[in-house]
Amino acid sequence: MNTPRIDFARFSQMPDAECHERIRAARARIGRKAVILCHHYQRADVYQYADLTGDSLKLSRLAAQADADYIVFCGVHFMAEVADIMSKPEQTSILPDLAAGCSMADMANLAKVERCWRELQEVLNPDEHFTPVTYINSAADLKAFCGRHGGIVCTSSNARTIAEWAFGQREKILFFPDQHLGRWTGHTMGIPLDEMLVWDPDLELGGLTPEQIRKARLLLWKGHCSVHQMFQPAHIRRFRAEHPDGLVIAHPECAFEVCRLADHVGSTEHIVKVVKEAAPNTRWLVGTELNLVNRLAEEVKPEGKIVQFMAPTVCMCSTMQRIDPQHLAWTLENLADGHVVNPIKVPGHEAAPARLTLERMLAVS
Ligand code: 13P
Ligand code: SF4
Repeated sequence: MNTPRIDFARFSQMPDAECHERIRAARARIGRKAVILCHHYQRADVYQYADLTGDSLKLSRLAAQADADYIVFCGVHFMAEVADIMSKPEQTSILPDLAAGCSMADMANLAKVERCWRELQEVLNPDEHFTPVTYINSAADLKAFCGRHGGIVCTSSNARTIAEWAFGQREKILFFPDQHLGRWTGHTMGIPLDEMLVWDPDLELGGLTPEQIRKARLLLWKGHCSVHQMFQPAHIRRFRAEHPDGLVIAHPECAFEVCRLADHVGSTEHIVKVVKEAAPNTRWLVGTELNLVNRLAEEVKPEGKIVQFMAPTVCMCSTMQRIDPQHLAWTLENLADGHVVNPIKVPGHEAAPARLTLERMLAVS
């Protein structure tokens, strides 16, 4: 007889040590039927169980190549959705806590983007003049929107290549939901700031005049990451004053001025690579999420490298943090007993056009 599905209540107060024992025991029972994918921001007590790690681009490729029946995604909701869209129909993507969302992804939704597209129509036909580009940090229905309108998905590591492709299709881009990644990408392509205008979805015509829309090359959705907005130019200036030989690296979700002052700007995978490959005894100021920075600091310490977190306050991705040993133990123990908890299933009418845009992205990059 089957063991009944275990309710999360049994795990919510479980001490960490017991969770770790149960995670190890469940994994041994599950074997190769499940693969655990972890984003770089995942907390250390969960990250230690990763079979595969990476930034969003690498993880989307890994999800497409995975051959396990179950993909347990220790990340946030949009990542588990991408894993579902890119994996085979018989595979199941699982998010150990459904509350692990991305606050930036929530700053754009289909109703608002469709309204934007309708409003643009009053000025010029968006399907003729704009390529919609969505950052991978977005819901599946927005990726599907891009699929239906000749658009594409990008990540922080391929945004420039994708933007070049997008400008090859039409002369303007509507970029959502992260204005900072969009602006930084446009800047690296030589687009002047006054041709990259913010579209505020809460204002009529995005708060812009028809003339501004006609002149703009990039319309940047008014969205941002609450973690990366904490990093300030003053943090870099202080570091440079104290450590003139120090080096600065930032994620492109940081504000424009922060990216401009940094020596390197790139995805989480890029940040890890650059710091690991740097000369011994170098000092780094890193502008991205705290779990990644703490892990990196420990890893490069033996080479005499010093890695400092950019902000004086604690900035963690609080939603990704929700995937804790309790949720992982609950998920894996149920899976070992034959019960799938928290499957992420994107409906077919969204998955098909979303897959098109993701495959287009992988082909272009
Ligand atoms: P990466 O693709 O660089 O890992 O970024 C994902 C993310 O959400 C950063 O906040
Ligand atoms: Fe989303 Fe920001 Fe967390 Fe990245 S760090 S997953 S953008 S909330």
